[in-house]
Amino acid sequence: MNSVSSLPPLLQVEGVCKDFRARGALWRDSTSIRAVDGVSFSMQRSETLAVVGESGSGKSTLGRAILQLDPPTAGSVRFDGAELTGLDETRLRPFRKRMQMIFQDPFGSLNPRMTVRAILAEPFQIHGLAGNRAALEAEVRRLLDAVRLPAMAADRYPRQFSGGQRQRISIARALALRPDFIVADEPVSALDVSIQAQILKLLKELQAEFKLSYLFIAHDLAVVRHIADRVAVMYFGRVVEIAPCDALYETPLHPYTSALLDASPVPDPAVEAQRHRITLTGEVPSPARPPTGCPFHTRCPRAEGLCREQLPPLAERFSGHAVACHFPNR
Ligand SMILES: Nc1ncnc2c1ncn2[C@@H]1O[C@H](COP(=O)(O)OP(=O)(O)O)[C@@H](O)[C@H]1O
Ligand SMILES: [Mg+2]
Repeated sequence: MNSVSSLPPLLQVEGVCKDFRARGALWRDSTSIRAVDGVSFSMQRSETLAVVGESGSGKSTLGRAILQLDPPTAGSVRFDGAELTGLDETRLRPFRKRMQMIFQDPFGSLNPRMTVRAILAEPFQIHGLAGNRAALEAEVRRLLDAVRLPAMAADRYPRQFSGGQRQRISIARALALRPDFIVADEPVSALDVSIQAQILKLLKELQAEFKLSYLFIAHDLAVVRHIADRVAVMYFGRVVEIAPCDALYETPLHPYTSALLDASPVPDPAVEAQRHRITLTGEVPSPARPPTGCPFHTRCPRAEGLCREQLPPLAERFSGHAVACHFPNR
């Protein structure tokens, strides 16, 4: 055994829930909706776990809850062995440096009035690590270099760059404080397909270079196929299937996963032949009125009485491959 395997997992998420107050017309009507419902998994160093599901399934909320940007209502988040929930901002500070987030819309998340130099210098200033001017300039150079942008980019403003270049700038900013964990929230969803491939390649190279772990959020299984080590499929705030990447694409166990795969075809006839063809109809139920039993039963072609009555627990069927379904595929 090497020394790495004796370290605790980088991230341990246990029973994480996030409730939001959903306001009615009157303040008295205020009820609570559960956006994330009892999510548990762990991640190793340098691993990429993709979190995939339709819009509204709770992916962003989960990412923000893990980073304590919007702390969980219940459950535990351990980072490098340390419990993060319940820590005040001062105690979170050393962890904030190590955990960063990249967003879908790099334009929205980059201040249009700041030069790229100022954008990249800001994390150092916030954490009191700016040093002298020359040291800061060297850091800016290092970061631009890391994301393959020329040094002269430092003097420009975000609007002077294309969407893909802007995403490189956000990635550079996320890398500033040498994090070991990054939540990438649909980082390529807003980009053209050809640009998507370039950014995914960059993220992969940076992962090897800086030993990064990614929680990579996407709404499309095709996007994460070549970047993820494992995939967690979310539906209605829960993980309904989690598996190593190959197992998930080749032998999906949850009918929802099969449906998502059908929505993004794989160019492999052998895989296509084994498909349990399911087309998704209808919509994700409203979290204000959660269905009884399995939340997928309202859209599932295989649903039976049991599915309407009992919530299936996430249970391991094969090594590392767990599913929450009363009647999984095969
Ligand atoms: N700040 C908030 N206040 C109230 N409800 C929210 C808030 N953020 C998210 N939600 C609700 O939580 C659910 C999950 O949202 P989200 O995490 O954004 O899903 P995803 O990222 O998978 O699209 C949705 O029903 C959404 O409307
Ligand atoms: Mg989202």
